[in-house]
Amino acid sequence: MDSLAAVDWTAYQDEALAAIGSALSEAELDDARVKYLGRKSALAQALRGVRDRESGMLLNGVRSKLEEAVAAREAELARLAYELAAEAGVDVTIPGTPVTRGHLHLLTQIRREIEDIFLGMGYEVWDGNEVATVWENFDALTSDPGHPSRSQFDTFYIDQNTVLRTHTSPDQIRAMQTRKPPIYMVSPGRCYRRDTPDATHSPIFLQVECLAVDRGITLADLQGTVLKFFRALFGEEREVRMRTSFFPFTEPSVEFDVTCFICGGEGCATCKHSGWIEMGGAGWVDPDVFRNVGIDPDEYQGFAFGFGIERIAMLRHGLPDLRAFWENDLRVLGQF
Ligand code: PHE
Repeated sequence: MDSLAAVDWTAYQDEALAAIGSALSEAELDDARVKYLGRKSALAQALRGVRDRESGMLLNGVRSKLEEAVAAREAELARLAYELAAEAGVDVTIPGTPVTRGHLHLLTQIRREIEDIFLGMGYEVWDGNEVATVWENFDALTSDPGHPSRSQFDTFYIDQNTVLRTHTSPDQIRAMQTRKPPIYMVSPGRCYRRDTPDATHSPIFLQVECLAVDRGITLADLQGTVLKFFRALFGEEREVRMRTSFFPFTEPSVEFDVTCFICGGEGCATCKHSGWIEMGGAGWVDPDVFRNVGIDPDEYQGFAFGFGIERIAMLRHGLPDLRAFWENDLRVLGQF
């Protein structure tokens, strides 16, 4: 065979061993390996053309020797690097600085948990806008034109007709304007109010809005949905109660409480010894709201409720101060 005959394999092996043995870095060693053992090397090409046992044994012998030499030189280079480092006073056996793994913010974890529960009940998760028109945030929700919550002291105005939403309820309006009933939607997101930050107030906070619009919906559906949701979130033993309340966009309106998930209703510091924890507001969608978005209130009915996410996180983990969520102190956030 030509290639076999043309090459002096003893010389090839000696030359290769010399190159491998004198490589001073991993890169040099790799160059030698590619040159004498790589796919395009004379050795590899000759091996591909082998037809008889004798030449095969000869060439495979050369290959094994060279492979052993590469492995030996690799180990030697590693040892040399270690010795050099040690001479320079570097102890390479000291463990490295661990890289701490990040994780989702506690509020994001809870938001996703909430979304999963609603998805399981067949709701669409809505990504609402943090910027709303005055009409969406107030007028369409039939809020009183003179109500103090509209003032610049309570609400962040971007211009005369545009605000940072003060609650997630404007998402109800957008959902009803862009979807045809039946609508089952839940909208979690940031809301803004001009509050001075303290342990229980923040100018930025997270709410979740839930809206169901369909034929033949009753208040029992609202109660059942709220109960199912809070049982999924806090445990099957929970009970829910409704107290009459007022919101401009629901009639009748209620506030709902959940039996305390710390003491189970016995009474403790978290529930102020009442056994109940206030969770949020809810009600029957006011027919005027339906009219504002062009839905016929004689054909469709609906319920809505809203609640805060920080409150759930604070109660669940016994956190005393809301500001901790927004200050991004990793000593706090890293615990959840
Ligand atoms: N948007 C109300 C609030 O911020 C809560 C609410 C939502 C009440 C839906 C009724 C129905 O307090």
